[in-house]
Amino acid sequence: MEKIVWKPEYSVGVERLDRQHQRIIKVINTLIAKPGIFIRSASIADALSELTSYVSEHFLLEEQLLEENNYPNLIDHVKRHTEYGEQIANFYLKKIENNKNVPRQLLNYLSEWWVGHILHEDMKYKSFFKDKGIR
Ligand SMILES: [Fe+2]
Ligand SMILES: [Fe+2]
Repeated sequence: MEKIVWKPEYSVGVERLDRQHQRIIKVINTLIAKPGIFIRSASIADALSELTSYVSEHFLLEEQLLEENNYPNLIDHVKRHTEYGEQIANFYLKKIENNKNVPRQLLNYLSEWWVGHILHEDMKYKSFFKDKGIR
């Protein structure tokens, strides 16, 4: 599976959020690089829990910034984040418990969701923050 390559067009124009997106992509790439390592091994377990904590931290900051600035599509955006969380929780429950590898399906989902979400959903607030002078 291909790793995700960060491109300048992934930038949402807010440095803190870009850095968080990059950090999340880095962890996903670590998982893509070692999908066959036993789930019980520390490195994959660490990467998955690292991912979970980076993601919650990111959603929190992003939603906070959107809320503070009265972003008009806040509710819809938060809904997307919630849906992601539910999907991941499902994967964890159904697949990972009985699986020795990080399921390909999960890696595909992670990689498609993040690239798609940044490019199509997060990108919607780019000009909004730019107009407010938030960088
Ligand atoms: Fe988002
Ligand atoms: Fe985001």
